[in-house]
Amino acid sequence: MAVLISGGLGYIGSHTSIEILEAGMDVIIVDNLFNSKELVKDRIEQITKKKVTYYNIDETDEESLEVVFKENKIDSVIHFAALKAVGESVEKPLEYYYNNLISTLVILKLMKKYDVKDFIFSSSATVYGNAEVMPIKEDFSLSVTNPYGRTKLIIEDMLRDIYYADNTWNIGILRYFNPVGAHISGLIGEEPNGIPNNLMPYITKVAIGELKEVSVFGNDYDTVDGTGVRDYIHVVDLAKGHVKALQKLASKPGLVTYNLGTGKGYSVIELINAFSKASGKDIPYKIVGRRAGDVASCYADPTKANVELSWKAEKDINDMCKDSWRWQNSNPDGYK
Ligand code: NAD
Ligand code: WQD
Repeated sequence: MAVLISGGLGYIGSHTSIEILEAGMDVIIVDNLFNSKELVKDRIEQITKKKVTYYNIDETDEESLEVVFKENKIDSVIHFAALKAVGESVEKPLEYYYNNLISTLVILKLMKKYDVKDFIFSSSATVYGNAEVMPIKEDFSLSVTNPYGRTKLIIEDMLRDIYYADNTWNIGILRYFNPVGAHISGLIGEEPNGIPNNLMPYITKVAIGELKEVSVFGNDYDTVDGTGVRDYIHVVDLAKGHVKALQKLASKPGLVTYNLGTGKGYSVIELINAFSKASGKDIPYKIVGRRAGDVASCYADPTKANVELSWKAEKDINDMCKDSWRWQNSNPDGYK
């Protein structure tokens, strides 16, 4: 069985490629290196001792992408390729709509043409907007607050329409909460461009001495210690969720939607403390004002995935911190 993994050299895609290879499937990666390095392919092969087929193609380019369908017998597609920075999407909505929507439309069109009907889509907890009740279940109402989130919701809606019109598709919509951590080898991990927007990569840059201190965005939320609470999930657990989702699609379930989270929330201060403990590094921080658009708490009810996919996040906050630190510490300059 061969899986086409778009965006497979990125953070979540690379970890998922490893789990798919280790589950005995073949992997064909398409990535335009917009936010990744070709070296990641070598690292995936080094870790798994298996070969990966790789195409440096922009997925919005239909003619080039069609070559991949012509040259390979593809059984299913996992579509990670996207631009993903919330703040940047507010500044550059056109780029976000173009890249995220067109790439998805092109791959779906080619899947239809080549009769490949198993599709997994990387959605996000962002589609729940400002959910008032926690934990979040899949049937909660959907709303978004920024162009990035809107691309995810538009694509989800498109997928529901496509399935409604043709129920021979099998579609897995996976809504990720906050992926952190790295492969235990320390060979692959998250490499954000410039100053990180997300908390964990910011903490690791402070730990390595590249940034001075963490700015904690608000300590007056209605949470355990006033700082924002999130459902951090180890990227390897998330990757394994994709293997389970592929197995689910093989049973022809139609369109299915799952939260991939641990179900447990940690505050910013709790994460900083857990990281200090796991790394032995002091993490200086200061409290600053709230960040626009942030919610107090966001964590999943992962019961549906636990039951229907036989999947459960296994790694705890200590594993997440230890593995994030190992990656950062053994690759201070990332993939350079
Ligand atoms: P990433 O930026 O590390 O990976 C995305 C990959 O897609 C990159 O390697 C990039 O080069 C590639 N890419 C982008 N546009 C492309 C195009 N037009 N053609 C070919 N390749 C293209 O991001 P990630 O963190 O691994 O996220 C993967 C997916 O998961 C994205 O769809 C993202 O929106 C979603 N997601 C991420 C998070 C998170 O916090 N990381 C949370 C929820 C959902
Ligand atoms: C976590 C907590 C911040 C940075 C984002 C996207 C979401 C999804 C995952 C893609 C919050 C606080 C952060 C810092 C801080 N991505 N924080 N200082 O905002 O929950 O989710 O990534 O789909 O769509 O919105 O993640 O890591 O940015 O923030 O205090 O320097 O850490 O306020 O409470 P977020 P995050």
